[in-house]
Amino acid sequence: MRIYVPADAAAKGLGAEAVARAVSDEAAKRGLQVALVRNGSRGMVWLEPLLEVETPEGRIAFGPVSAADVPGLFDAAFGEHPKALGLTEDIPWLKRQTRITFARCGITDPLSLPDYEAHGGLKGLHRAVAMTGGEIVAEVTASGLRGRGGAGFPTGLKWKTVHDAVGAQKYVVCNADEGDSGTFADRMLMEGDPFCLIEGMAIAALAVGATRGYIYSRSEYPDANRVMRAALAIAHSAGVLGPSVLGSGRAFELELRVGAGAYVCGEETSLLNSLEGKRGTVRAKPPIPALEGLFGKPTVVNNVLSLATVPAILAHGGAWYHEFGHGRSRGTMPLQIAGNVKRGGLFEAAFGMALGEIIEDIGGGTASGRPVKAVQVGGPLGAYFPPALFDTPFGYEEYAGKGGLIGHAGIVVFDDTADMLSQARFALEFCAIESCGKCTPCRLGATRGVETVDRIARGDAAAIPLLEDLCNTMKLGSLCALGGFTPYPVMSALTHFPDDFNTAREAAE
Ligand SMILES: Cc1cc2nc3c(=O)[nH]c(=O)nc-3n(C[C@H](O)[C@H](O)[C@H](O)COP(=O)(O)O)c2cc1C
Ligand code: SF4
Repeated sequence: MRIYVPADAAAKGLGAEAVARAVSDEAAKRGLQVALVRNGSRGMVWLEPLLEVETPEGRIAFGPVSAADVPGLFDAAFGEHPKALGLTEDIPWLKRQTRITFARCGITDPLSLPDYEAHGGLKGLHRAVAMTGGEIVAEVTASGLRGRGGAGFPTGLKWKTVHDAVGAQKYVVCNADEGDSGTFADRMLMEGDPFCLIEGMAIAALAVGATRGYIYSRSEYPDANRVMRAALAIAHSAGVLGPSVLGSGRAFELELRVGAGAYVCGEETSLLNSLEGKRGTVRAKPPIPALEGLFGKPTVVNNVLSLATVPAILAHGGAWYHEFGHGRSRGTMPLQIAGNVKRGGLFEAAFGMALGEIIEDIGGGTASGRPVKAVQVGGPLGAYFPPALFDTPFGYEEYAGKGGLIGHAGIVVFDDTADMLSQARFALEFCAIESCGKCTPCRLGATRGVETVDRIARGDAAAIPLLEDLCNTMKLGSLCALGGFTPYPVMSALTHFPDDFNTAREAAE
């Protein structure tokens, strides 16, 4: 019998270790031969720990399972049981998705290279080793893939710049800092399908002519870091990485580096400084990292999801990937639904789904059962959207047009008990704490912003235009998006929820 219990950090947080132990103990007690696979998560966090059993019809799921449920599951021979969910693939939440980047996550044994290959892994890299760098770049360009880290910059264009740059040494750097609130897709992928990221980075290296690469992760991700290290060692010994990638004669050495976990170290130039052993402060651009990046050399910096999508693009073709999506947002996006929501988790879908459908239909509304008041999309620098904007299709331009951003596709739901004045204060306080201190509008502006919100809370109506003025200064004058985008949550809270800034009411209380 083959049983799957995720070793994903979210599943572990919900008791997966105890479930896995109970499965082993119960099997031993009953003298049953059980192969226990510690897979990644399928992304249905509200059903974790999700236990799956292989059957001739496919895998059947049970969840959320506790250790106390395990003897009963054995008694029922993993048949009829109150926690039974039927065939995993038929669970509507999973069935509705278009899984490309997360095609294997939760299905394979994350550290089995044969399992990876049996599920389509390495097809893209095998194709890439037979292509020139320029051909690989053209394929990625044709896919329409844009950076999944937040800025949405076309990946093919970035790769072409590094490909065309002159330099004896070039680098590929993976941004696995994942600092946005409510996001966990990078972590899930690294824990559940680490070879996919390695394959994507090897393809990027072949495309631009880089021979060294680094994955920059954070210390708060111990599970992801452990899995990545083990996967890197396996990939090296199997010849996927090393002096001759898949026997091509082209070298690519790849290492994991772990930062201490500062939000600003997710900003690419700050990340590069941190990788070089310096303090994580933002560099002025130009020069862009594609031309003068790590140690001053041409460098590709891409998010985990951007890189992990590349193997599928190479395997199926850029035109195939381009077929999915909406407007200028091509392909799929792994949405991360979190906060006060009934069914939270990772839902990969083609761009274009309306925000309301994501929250109400997929997410099931709030966990508290109260009405949704606001949804923050795109991490701590993203705008708060009221239900009036729920018809906005998920896409880079569509969100920008409504004063927001999709960022890394973190979607955090708030019910009607949320106080948007407090949320505006939180955004400014976050910026003050995480600011690298390099430029004045952000370094001083965030702190003055907190003080100004406090004045509004005390009933000082004159402070509202001051807050607007300050937001404009930060937006236009900051060196990077930390200071430049903090006004988005603040101004969206003020614009869409003016009652929460009603100083007359506050003063009367
Ligand atoms: C304050 C700040 C934090 C950021 N954090 C991240 C992060 O955690 N992960 C990430 O991939 N990009 C982050 N970015 C965006 C990166 O600077 C950069 O655009 C990205 O890594 C490029 O990769 P992509 O083109 O694949 O998205 C951040 C940007 C800013 C301004
Ligand atoms: S905006 Fe903030 S984080 Fe960005 S460079 Fe300026 S001080 Fe540093």
